[in-house]
Amino acid sequence: MIDRYGVIGQPISHSLSPRIHRRFAEQTDQRLSYEALEIAPEDLPTFFSSTQLAGFNVTLPHKQRVFDLLAVVSDRAAAAGAVNTVYRHEAGQLCGDNTDGAGFIEDVAGRLPLAGRRILLLGAGGAAQGIVAPVRDAGVSELVIANRTYDKAVRLAEKVGASAIRWEELATAKPFDGVIHSTAAGHKQMPDLPICLVKDGSWCYDLSYGPAARPFLAWGEAQGCQVQDGLGMLVEQAALSFAIWRGVRPKTAPVLAELRAEGTE
Ligand code: ATR
Repeated sequence: MIDRYGVIGQPISHSLSPRIHRRFAEQTDQRLSYEALEIAPEDLPTFFSSTQLAGFNVTLPHKQRVFDLLAVVSDRAAAAGAVNTVYRHEAGQLCGDNTDGAGFIEDVAGRLPLAGRRILLLGAGGAAQGIVAPVRDAGVSELVIANRTYDKAVRLAEKVGASAIRWEELATAKPFDGVIHSTAAGHKQMPDLPICLVKDGSWCYDLSYGPAARPFLAWGEAQGCQVQDGLGMLVEQAALSFAIWRGVRPKTAPVLAELRAEGTE
């Protein structure tokens, strides 16, 4: 029997994870299956007690809930307060990890500098929580978090030793070297961003990809910034999950190139 893996979420039909993991399996000669499973929040406990999967990824809206359900989680899952990868301990026990932040760091490595730079993070929801600790640990000179609901920015900033500013204060902020967009606003209407946030040589990164990333990246491009969407992060976090399960780290560049060539909308 081959080992079975999957991704749980709701909705899940749009997920690129099955394509990515099947490509990784071909590339590394691993015999496994990977499927997308639509699981409603109320069905999570039943899923956990009955699943036969060797491991699985977790996506919206379950990342925080799965963290709460698991007795054993990694330090980085604890830092994020969320789980995106579940694997089995030798005894079969389900354990949680989080590869989102490391996936982001892998994706920007060598392209968008973090060390010694002033970085602005827009948003303080689940996506932001997944990356703040690794961004801080990358040696940034300053990490500032702005969120529509200021209290959430303050709470997240306190957790990682960053500072928080009110959304209105963005209008008078000093320019940043890099701006990371993590709000869910891209799916709807981007709030206006002042041009003082960036300067010559600044970069802009959107944690989402496809249409959701377009408004923020269009804004960054209009200011002359280097811009990048989160498709690379998606592939990198998947490769890190795959390595946890299979002990082999697949190459990400060919899979990312293929997704870009095919289009992701
Ligand atoms: P995710 O897991 O994608 O981060 P989330 O945890 O629901 O989703 O967080 C959504 C984030 O987008 C929050 O930072 C939210 O701001 P609030 O904390 O004020 O709700 C932000 N957000 C959503 N819609 C927004 C909008 N129209 N303008 C600005 N921020 C928005």
